[in-house]
Formats: sequence, structure tokens, C-alpha cells
Amino acid sequence: GTKTFTMLKPDAISKGYIGDILKQITGSGFKIVALKMTHMTTNDAKAFYEVHKERPFYGELVDYMTSGPVVSAILEKENAVDDFRTLIGATNPDEAAEGTIRKNYATSISENAIHGSDSDENATIESNFHFAGREQF
Ligand code: GTP
Ligand code: MG
Repeated sequence: GTKTFTMLKPDAISKGYIGDILKQITGSGFKIVALKMTHMTTNDAKAFYEVHKERPFYGELVDYMTSGPVVSAILEKENAVDDFRTLIGATNPDEAAEGTIRKNYATSISENAIHGSDSDENATIESNFHFAGREQF
């Protein structure tokens, strides 16, 4: 299969949802091929979300993503990137479809529980940002 990258965000971790979210991910046909918990530094979060640096919420996003640990993972499935974006739902949980991870676990558009890569190219870039080569298999 193809791969995508995900992070369970600090609000999901602090609310105790790691197990439930990973269960929904694997129950939806994704295989976990890499997994760890880390606490990003401000520079890490700025670099990870650099594409959003001109957006008005960039500072808030960096503060949020460094407010606690994240769980990052590489997932494998046929059509992984698109199927995972479908599984997590819209950025704003109020607009997310019933049964999606953001509908089930997100708090708000800013504290929205989970990240999913938006292209195969970004999945590779983001996986390499979070995992050394020997951690990816
Ligand atoms: P990711 O999977 O995390 O990349 O989310 P996304 O692709 O659904 O959304 P996008 O890449 O556009 O935005 C990245 C993240 O910035 C979102 O997941 C939110 O955490 C945050 N964000 C997006 N829009 C807003 C906003 O209008 N206000 C605030 N405060 N945060 C936002
Ligand atoms: Mg995005």
C-alpha cells in the first residue's frame, strides 16, 4: 500500500483519546508502520507548519502544537492519503461528517485532534521530519 503521516494533537492526548483514536485508525484498515510520542519545540512546530506562516492563526497554531506532547505515526493502506483525509473529516469539527475522527474527538477548528498529510509528497516530507530512516519500515 501507500503511506501517509499523522499526528494526534495535544488536545487529543490531554483528553486521553490516544487509544480510542488509534483503534479507529487501525479499525479503518490502516496499518501502523511507525509510532512515537514527542513534544515538539517551537522551532519544530514553526518548521512543520511553515506553509501556514503568513496565515493569521500561525502563532496560535504553533503555541497549540507545543502545548503538550503529540503522537506521530506513519500509516499504510491503499490510497492512504485521500482515505485518511476522509477518515479524519473537515478541518472544522462542526463541518466534519458523522463518524469522522474530528467529529468524534475534536474541540474546535484550532484544537482539532489530528493531522493528516494532504499529498503523497507531503506525507514523505512529514514522515522524514518526525522519523529517522531506521524508524520507518
Ligand atoms: P492538518 O491536517 O493539521 O494540516 O489540518 P488541515 O489540513 O485540515 O487544515 P490546514 O492545513 O488548513 O490547517 C492546519 C491547522 O491549522 C488546522 O488543522 C488547525 O489546527 C489550524 N487552523 C486552520 N484554520 C484555522 C483557523 O481559522 N484558526 C485557527 N486558530 N487555527 C486554524
Ligand atoms: Mg493541512
